[in-house]
Amino acid sequence: MSGKISEEIKKKIEKLVKELNYHSYRYYVLDSPVMSDGEYDKAYRHLKELEEEYHYILPDSPTQRVGAPALEKFDKVKHTEPMLSLDNAFSHDEVREFDKRIKKLLGTEDEVEYTVEPKYDGLAIEITYRNGLLFRASTRGDGYEGEDVTQNIKTIKSVPLKMEGSKIPGEIDIRGEVYMDLDEFEKLNKQRERNDEPLFANPRNAAAGSVRQLDPSVTTARKLYLACYGIGTAKGISFKSQSELTKWLQEARFPTPEKMKVVKGIDKVIGIIKEIEEERGDFSFETDGAVVKVNDFGLQQKLGVKTREPRWATAYKFQAHQGTTTIKEIHGSVGRTGVITPFAVFEPVRIGGVTVSRSTLHNWDEIERKDIKIGDTVVVERAGDVIPHVLMVIKEKRTGEEKKFPIPEKCPACGSSVVREDGEVAVRCVSLHCPAQVQEKIAHFASRGGMDIEGLGEKNIELLYSRGLIKHFEDIYKLKKEDLLELPRFAEKSAQNLIEAIEKSKHATLSKFLFAIGILHVGEYAAKVLAKNFRKLEDLYKVTPERIMQIKQMGGKIASSLSMFFNDRKNIDLLNSMVKLGMKITNPDFKSNEKGGMPLEGLTFVITGTMPKSRKEIEGLIEDNGGHASSAISASTSYLVVGEEPGSKLAKAKKLGVKAISYNELLKMVEKKPGNLRLF
Ligand code: IVH
Repeated sequence: MSGKISEEIKKKIEKLVKELNYHSYRYYVLDSPVMSDGEYDKAYRHLKELEEEYHYILPDSPTQRVGAPALEKFDKVKHTEPMLSLDNAFSHDEVREFDKRIKKLLGTEDEVEYTVEPKYDGLAIEITYRNGLLFRASTRGDGYEGEDVTQNIKTIKSVPLKMEGSKIPGEIDIRGEVYMDLDEFEKLNKQRERNDEPLFANPRNAAAGSVRQLDPSVTTARKLYLACYGIGTAKGISFKSQSELTKWLQEARFPTPEKMKVVKGIDKVIGIIKEIEEERGDFSFETDGAVVKVNDFGLQQKLGVKTREPRWATAYKFQAHQGTTTIKEIHGSVGRTGVITPFAVFEPVRIGGVTVSRSTLHNWDEIERKDIKIGDTVVVERAGDVIPHVLMVIKEKRTGEEKKFPIPEKCPACGSSVVREDGEVAVRCVSLHCPAQVQEKIAHFASRGGMDIEGLGEKNIELLYSRGLIKHFEDIYKLKKEDLLELPRFAEKSAQNLIEAIEKSKHATLSKFLFAIGILHVGEYAAKVLAKNFRKLEDLYKVTPERIMQIKQMGGKIASSLSMFFNDRKNIDLLNSMVKLGMKITNPDFKSNEKGGMPLEGLTFVITGTMPKSRKEIEGLIEDNGGHASSAISASTSYLVVGEEPGSKLAKAKKLGVKAISYNELLKMVEKKPGNLRLF
């Protein structure tokens, strides 16, 4: 039963949605927030409570960005107008030829007005709005037909769920590029490296991989942005030029390309191109060129399209970031799972504004294939502008002094023998005591995607490890402030902060915990899938590969790795010892299935009076067990939890016929069902 809704509540919800959307626009589109994160979160929670209580949810409510279920496959979407690609120009001369062609086709000698803007290296998207509301989003696909990625695009905070402004068309297709900024790209790859997952070669692949996810919760976790540069079909609105369209897009709250300029004449166009090329290293996103478009839409129409590319636009491609240097040394670095990855140390070289002094050589087969030796002169490229790699060896420069680097027989970190299994490219150190592996494991455990222990980065881990204070991640929970105060990097405040961050991390979700403990092949996604399928950690103990294989997203490699991990007594002892140290794991991801739902599923609770535990803790208990904690009592409230000296809510509950229970009765409700989610 839903709470009866008054006009007043409706207005309140509408106001909250409007305010939250405005602040999100300031934050994500204008990059100029005026509300703190804390205030935003508070207002968001309040809105969610009201929506749940009164079942009044606006289509543009920020709560509608998340929570959509995973899909089996993407539906196909036909674009009403094809999504074209761009012709390229590789030199300034080619840009001048583009201008000459245009003047010839238009039969004019007059200078043409152009727009110039950075080319975003991402994924082209079309978003259809009906009467101002986001209706559907699709990928470019082959230009004629793409995939329906609406749920994923909705998770991107800079994408308006509803457009604003005075001119709202009946229907319009907005086109733009979804991209990942360079910081996020680096963070994501670091996390994937720790987790032995394949790295994304560049931000474009990372953006595409994130949008083309069947489970929107994966997309939500990746920070993506949008830059809108065009439209497809538009009903009830028309524009005279690219600059007029851009102005309208901005008024409607769409993000548009940074640094877009309108200039007359090709000399000025080339001037802007040069500016963008010089500044490209300072952009927060990856750009590999500048897009030049005829500004006037009437002229665009006259010029038309040749096969798949418009005649009125071109993409000037910047020079690839490459440089030449020599390899001084080659070493192996040991990762969390013992894999030894070769890397080259260069004579430092500046490539596209960044000094490059080392790069991964990926694996030992790659060294063989490219015939890389110590002392070689090599061409280094910064792919995706961030990860340098050796493109090729300049063999003509060889003197005969170059040395081959053999596959190591001993681990460079601990000196143990290494193994290379048949058919595997990876060389591994299998020692359980290898310090490099142990430190990497701890770093993974504490990382953002894992237990998210702020202040426990690589440097501090190295220090704590070298002082013998942590040998395994369970030791993190034995650390005392006094221990930290004896170390050179810590003072009163930093020590206190780290201890608090560690304490906070004791309350984790099962999916984060499964990811953090670093089981081979179990990345964030696999951890989430496991949490959806296993109610609690103990349900995974002694798990068989067959049981894992029953889950459709799971493959043989993960199945055998999980079963090996959970059938090893030492691992179970480790997990149990973490429980003893105070770890509390809850599982909000578990979807009720044949085993029965969560104990408080579908129930709404309101708390009144003084309680034996803090309100926050009790609310956490309710939410963790599938219930909902609300601050306002109404006819739809299932139970009023009453403490000492209850307020006016008790009288109101009686009037509304809402059952009042004590804190102990609440605990019984949680405990008596098999679905108790407090695991330890
Ligand atoms: S205008 C007729 N502007 O580059 C197509 N495209 O290589 C009009 N792109 O498919 C596109 N940044 O996905 C335009 N500022 C920008 C762009 C941009 C990136 C992409 C777009 C297009 C591809 C062509």
